[in-house]
Amino acid sequence: MLVIHTIAELRARLQGLTGIVLVPTMGNLHQGHLDLVRIARQHGQFVVVSIFVNPLQFGVNEDYSKYPRTLEQDCKMLEQCGVDMVFAPGERDLYPQPQQVTVDLPPIADELCGAFRPGHFRGAATVVLKLFNIVQPRIAVFGKKDYQQLYLMRQMAAQLNLPVEIIGGETVRASDGLALSSRNQYLNIAERTEAVFLYQTLIGISVAIMDGATDFLKLERQAIEALTARGWQVDYVTIRAQSNLAEPTASERNLVILAAARLGQTRLIDNLEVSREW
Ligand code: PAF
Repeated sequence: MLVIHTIAELRARLQGLTGIVLVPTMGNLHQGHLDLVRIARQHGQFVVVSIFVNPLQFGVNEDYSKYPRTLEQDCKMLEQCGVDMVFAPGERDLYPQPQQVTVDLPPIADELCGAFRPGHFRGAATVVLKLFNIVQPRIAVFGKKDYQQLYLMRQMAAQLNLPVEIIGGETVRASDGLALSSRNQYLNIAERTEAVFLYQTLIGISVAIMDGATDFLKLERQAIEALTARGWQVDYVTIRAQSNLAEPTASERNLVILAAARLGQTRLIDNLEVSREW
């Protein structure tokens, strides 16, 4: 497995290669990332995993400086998974000058997580577009855990006619149901025990929907109240249409329940797709 740190070397190594699949990550890999790698290997001949903690997508009071950076350990894991190349550029390589050209996203980027992390998706989309231009993959794989991000990357690829197919990988969960995330390690023992309640809340809503509940606002409100009563600071719990993340019409079958909430200092997100049968 090649570990490349500069754009120039990456371009030289990839010249003439086709069938490249890219898995963009910020490192500190866990089984969720490795599952995206597994999907990538099924879809192309040459798998590149990028590892870059992207300052552009962190707000001023967010965890950019404490975000775990574990390149050596990540590379060991990726080598065992049959990855062909790791691209781990330095900040000065990707941002040799202030990044003033950015990706302007649809309005939904300012809702849900975007409402609580202004500019986050602009930063994420901008670095992903740069990575696409550098690596030139035919396919890129993103996790469904970051549902809104996956939706926006698909929109970016479609609306900017990027020659890349975006594939979404299912969320990988711990045995109790907590969605795997690099940020889970910020949780103390008590918080880690409590954390699964976010997923249980989503399951509760999905069961209610499958049982015929249609008052979504009431389901959202009850979920927010239940989480708050247990000590969570809730950013949102919302039921949206899978197709466009808008508030669903009464006839919408394919829904997704999305939530973001903080336990102590740690912000967790999760989501659950639910399809109604008529
Ligand atoms: O999902 C992430 O880890 C990041 O947002 C991404 C896509 C690697 C861009 O920095």
